[in-house]
Amino acid sequence: MGGNDADALAPPHAGPHARLRGDYSGIGPDFVVDQRWERYSAAEHALYRRLYERQSRLVPRCACEEFNRSLARLDAAHEIPRFDRVSRALRAATGWEIVAVPGLVPDRVFFEHLANRRFPVTVWLRTPGEFDYIVEPDVFHDFFGHVPLLFDPVFADYLQAYGAGGLKAERLDALALLARLYWYTVEFGLVRGAAGSGGGLRAYGAGILSSGGELRYAIDDPAPRRVRFDLERIMRTEYRIDRYQDTYFVIESFDELFASTAPDFAPIYERVRALPALAADAAAAGDVAVQRER
Ligand code: PHE
Ligand code: CO
Repeated sequence: MGGNDADALAPPHAGPHARLRGDYSGIGPDFVVDQRWERYSAAEHALYRRLYERQSRLVPRCACEEFNRSLARLDAAHEIPRFDRVSRALRAATGWEIVAVPGLVPDRVFFEHLANRRFPVTVWLRTPGEFDYIVEPDVFHDFFGHVPLLFDPVFADYLQAYGAGGLKAERLDALALLARLYWYTVEFGLVRGAAGSGGGLRAYGAGILSSGGELRYAIDDPAPRRVRFDLERIMRTEYRIDRYQDTYFVIESFDELFASTAPDFAPIYERVRALPALAADAAAAGDVAVQRER
């Protein structure tokens, strides 16, 4: 896939509306670039800080414990983080590192990075006009949304397994089905807090955690459907990239997520392919509703 073809570069973890924004000139096969941290302007650090402040007011109540714990130890509130420092801490914690990329990368490249415990983080920051909403990942989404959970050993293993699973799904021509799993877990997953720890629903999906509006919506609003995590149900469910989600899938723990995605997906893809897809807002037979406990 060429670095200049916007369609070829619209992977399932981003969605078809993604445009190229970064600079792909002279890019190598792994799409990794230098972060060139010195290039960020004071205005960009200030905008990052404002984004961080807004989300950090919400996460104590709305994000899962694992996220909050890691965010605190990241010390990333004041300026756009230096990726090399973060990688040092991550390597020590879970053996992951982050690599800088100019923006979206081809599926194969993305999966190769995950399968090798490297998370690609976009280098550029959104404009002030995109404070509330951005259609493609920028450094704030990628960093704030995704990086804290890479410190959790179980979630970190899940993401690596997802990368390996992506390479396999590509061979099985099942990327569209696997992409739905990424969407409804890594990007928009909810977890039910442990009893006794305050309970209630919490977000672990990065698309929720980095969004000012959707974080509250996903946790508090009566409108969306919230159902128990079910792998095949998720693989059948279409998703919308242009609005808050109609349906959220709720796990009990990262252990559950890891265990239920461990089996060989080849026969599962076959089964799911034989069934009709479900619209993003549709109910399905067998759905177990999850109540908001607040
Ligand atoms: N078990 C999956 C397979 O056989 C791999 C996978 C693991 C995919 C975890 C996603 C998440 O393809
Ligand atoms: Co993301």
